[in-house]
Amino acid sequence: MASIIGTWRMSYEPVRAAYEMLCSGTSAADAVEYAVSEVERNPVFTSVGLGGLPARDGEVYLDAGWMDGNSLRCGAVMAVRNVSSPVRAARMLCGRKKNWLLCGSGAERFAASAGIPMREMLTEEARAKWLEAKEPAEEGHDTVCVIARDDSGRMVVGTSTSGLFMKEPGRVGDTPIVGSGFYCDAGAGGAAATGLGEEIMRGCLSYAAVSYMRQGKDAQTAAELAVSMFRLQLAGRGEDPEGISLITMDASGNTGAASTLESFPFAVGNAMYEAVLRNGRVTILMRNPEEIPFG
Ligand code: GLY
Repeated sequence: MASIIGTWRMSYEPVRAAYEMLCSGTSAADAVEYAVSEVERNPVFTSVGLGGLPARDGEVYLDAGWMDGNSLRCGAVMAVRNVSSPVRAARMLCGRKKNWLLCGSGAERFAASAGIPMREMLTEEARAKWLEAKEPAEEGHDTVCVIARDDSGRMVVGTSTSGLFMKEPGRVGDTPIVGSGFYCDAGAGGAAATGLGEEIMRGCLSYAAVSYMRQGKDAQTAAELAVSMFRLQLAGRGEDPEGISLITMDASGNTGAASTLESFPFAVGNAMYEAVLRNGRVTILMRNPEEIPFG
């Protein structure tokens, strides 16, 4: 079954269009790149790509990840500036046996030499917000994550974020880290995470969810188990995660989602849902999430 799932309201229109592309024979990889890069180039979204909120030094540093579930190959870029589509750079690195995770100036040089347009990603609006901000803010960790499966059974996951607003320059979250921000095995399923990267990385949440699918759990159960088991592990240490959410897709294209938030919107397009936005209310395990109408 052709299927696609993306995080947050911001992924809805791109996921809907990408689902139509999948239905017309576009590959999972092209559908994922399309959906993620549409969010990257939309300055309205302040946690991804153009318009992303800057670090303490006023620079916008971007992270992105990519995994091909058939080859288990990955690509990722960390802390890149001026790269118009970090997910495109991550995709272009995927396939390499070595040197597939690049950071900073090396990643920027790679992107430029690969023909990805370079531009200033700091918008006037984001700069104004930075000028007003005095403290590191717990905002801006809404990552766009998209998982797709095409009719040929190829599965891909892509992720992209500008990370935390007012982060320390050099800080990297889960988004470009395989196993934490994303993981995909076309024989079992794929997963991707959004939320506070420092928490997600401690639980290797995407890998955990795919491991449950490798054991035969369905996508929804795998998402719920990964989030709730990590939550239990933290609770045993006197901590409660402040905000982590996970999307999943199994090898047949069935989707799932779980979160520690009261509300976690995500978009799904497949034969069951025909491109709807759904709302995962998740501490309560989500079997019948309400659908959010679009106007
Ligand atoms: N989840 C994105 C970040 O923490 O950077």
